[in-house]
Amino acid sequence: MDSQTDNIRVLITLKKIAAVVKSLAGEITRDYHDKRPLLVGVLKGSFIFLADLVRQLDFPLEVDFIQLTSYGSGKENTGMIEVDHDLRTNIAGRHVLLVEDIIDTGITASYLLGVLGEREPASLKLCTLMDKPSRRRVPVKIDYAGLTVPDRFVVGYGLDNNEEYRHFPHIGYLED
Ligand code: IMP
Ligand code: MG
Repeated sequence: MDSQTDNIRVLITLKKIAAVVKSLAGEITRDYHDKRPLLVGVLKGSFIFLADLVRQLDFPLEVDFIQLTSYGSGKENTGMIEVDHDLRTNIAGRHVLLVEDIIDTGITASYLLGVLGEREPASLKLCTLMDKPSRRRVPVKIDYAGLTVPDRFVVGYGLDNNEEYRHFPHIGYLED
């Protein structure tokens, strides 16, 4: 039987990803080791990244998740978004680190920073594994950025194409 992931061209190996995660964890440790931060994973794409990241952080922290509905499936962000599954944590006075898989147009991250910022956290910063700056439509300040990726639709390591390929261990793109 053919592997479902045969048509993925690997762009970033799991070994390279691990090195990037470790380096981000070093920066985050330096800035948050005494702040008991709340790391907020944006579902679903960031679930594997967040899981790997927190296991490199050896200080007190908490984890929560938020999920958005972005109307329209597939590869295009239509720009219409709202919170679908909200945090269970009251973030007033907390140091919050938003953890994203990828910043593409910037619409999602800028919306989330707006929503969470209104709840008066002590601080609010953004960490992303990947940055795809070529497609930015809304400017976003990224505090911790892992890798810059070219203008290709990437899958694996948590990221999907219509819910497929999230379990692929590397990051790759689909061949046309
Ligand atoms: P943005 O709002 O356009 O910045 O996109 C943010 C969200 O779209 C990300 O958190 C991903 O879930 C998804 N996304 C953007 N680019 C890709 C991609 O290349 N592969 C998979 N998902 C993506
Ligand atoms: Mg996402």
